[in-house]
Amino acid sequence: MKKLWGGRFQESANSFAEAFGASILFDCRLAPYDIQGSIAHATMLGETGIVSRQESEQLVAGLKKVGQRLERGEVEFRVSDEDIHMNVERYLTEEIGAVAGKLHTARSRNDQVATDCHLFVRAQVVSAVESLLSLQSALVAQAQQQPDAIMPGYTHLQRGQPILFAHHMLAYAQMFQRDADRMMDLWKRANVLPLGAGALAGTTFPIDRELVARLLRFDGVYENSLDAVSDRDFVLEFLSVAASSMVHLSRLGEELVLWTSGEFGFAEMSDALSTGSSMMPQKKNPDFAELIRGKSGRVFGSLVGLLTVLKGLPLAYNKDMQEDKEGLFDTTDTLLGSLQVANDMIATMKIRPERMRRAAEQGFVNATDAADYLAKKGVPFREAHEIVGKLVAHCVERNIELLSLSLEEFQKFSTAFGADTHEALQLATVVGRRSSRGGTSPSSVADQLARIRSAMAVTEKWLSAHKPVVAVNWA
Ligand code: ARG
Repeated sequence: MKKLWGGRFQESANSFAEAFGASILFDCRLAPYDIQGSIAHATMLGETGIVSRQESEQLVAGLKKVGQRLERGEVEFRVSDEDIHMNVERYLTEEIGAVAGKLHTARSRNDQVATDCHLFVRAQVVSAVESLLSLQSALVAQAQQQPDAIMPGYTHLQRGQPILFAHHMLAYAQMFQRDADRMMDLWKRANVLPLGAGALAGTTFPIDRELVARLLRFDGVYENSLDAVSDRDFVLEFLSVAASSMVHLSRLGEELVLWTSGEFGFAEMSDALSTGSSMMPQKKNPDFAELIRGKSGRVFGSLVGLLTVLKGLPLAYNKDMQEDKEGLFDTTDTLLGSLQVANDMIATMKIRPERMRRAAEQGFVNATDAADYLAKKGVPFREAHEIVGKLVAHCVERNIELLSLSLEEFQKFSTAFGADTHEALQLATVVGRRSSRGGTSPSSVADQLARIRSAMAVTEKWLSAHKPVVAVNWA
């Protein structure tokens, strides 16, 4: 098969090496972006007079036809055409003949592939922000449906202090807000046009890069052609934000696994999002929560993989960079899929407030409050801590909770305990008193709810401004 770059070659390609070097089996996913970029380039070639207006129109019309054929599934990619750029060019040639050969004027595959990747990443940023926002809405809805449910809060997975379940849900909403913020921020670096850098040094043709940037709705152009074709920071950033989201999703998955266990029993997953066992008839397994936890690994792998690919590369383009794509595509699918499943799990999860409460009634989660109580009565906190420690040991020995002690028993440990001791140690009091900003009291949680909602409203606005930018159509 004659290669588009075959002019200086006498031998034909080694067929194993040809397949080894080809990227079409995965970069076919860039097809719509490749066509979109080429339409902008062809338009610019006509506007600047680099090709005639008529040729430019032929190129654009032909590319649109290829786009439509692609949409109808009528395009078959060939490994012998190596990558998406040359496959599209072959289809364009089929559509409009020899004039197709003018499309690649003032362009290299190096700035072309970088452009495709920018278009792809910015579209994924929008999808990720959208999915993060849906998951946040599911978390917020759970928080709202159960405003009074009290559960133990943990450190070291040992019961620490009681918290509102809503507070716990909103902690995750905050993590995903940071991820959405990071995604929206990386847009600035993703939405810059490399095209016009040529192979590495720019071009002798009088191109108009700003025009191409406007047509593709990029915010600007790369200022240095070497940087334009060598840069994959925007991919690294996307992978890194995805990795951070996967950490959050994995922690959520882990908690769902714990919560749905017989030992915790805090939550039940919908049947639709659980699986059974082939041998043990009683099982209802939280497979999807586990799978999300497990899938985080491949996203971290892609991030480390690309960091490693890039770290020793001399400027400018090197074929190594072709290795950026599979990790990027896999990460996109893994992230969006995990967000979707997590969203469905949270939205349909039934919580069991009575089980949460029972867990919070045991394990001395009000011990800090007993110490705070004494400290507020003038006992130095260190001393108060010691006294309550002894009280706890006393209860552990008898297998009872602090609230089972009578006032007289409390007073044997410290005369500072007064008539309001029991009241001060009730779960509702303990939770209600943590009304510091960001704390777990109902009023603090209500405030957090209002704040996360306004952050989400900002995301919503960002989405309505940016969604149209990433739309691709061949009309
Ligand atoms: N398939 C290549 C990639 O993904 C496209 C760029 C090829 N450029 C080149 N000079 N061989 O990186």
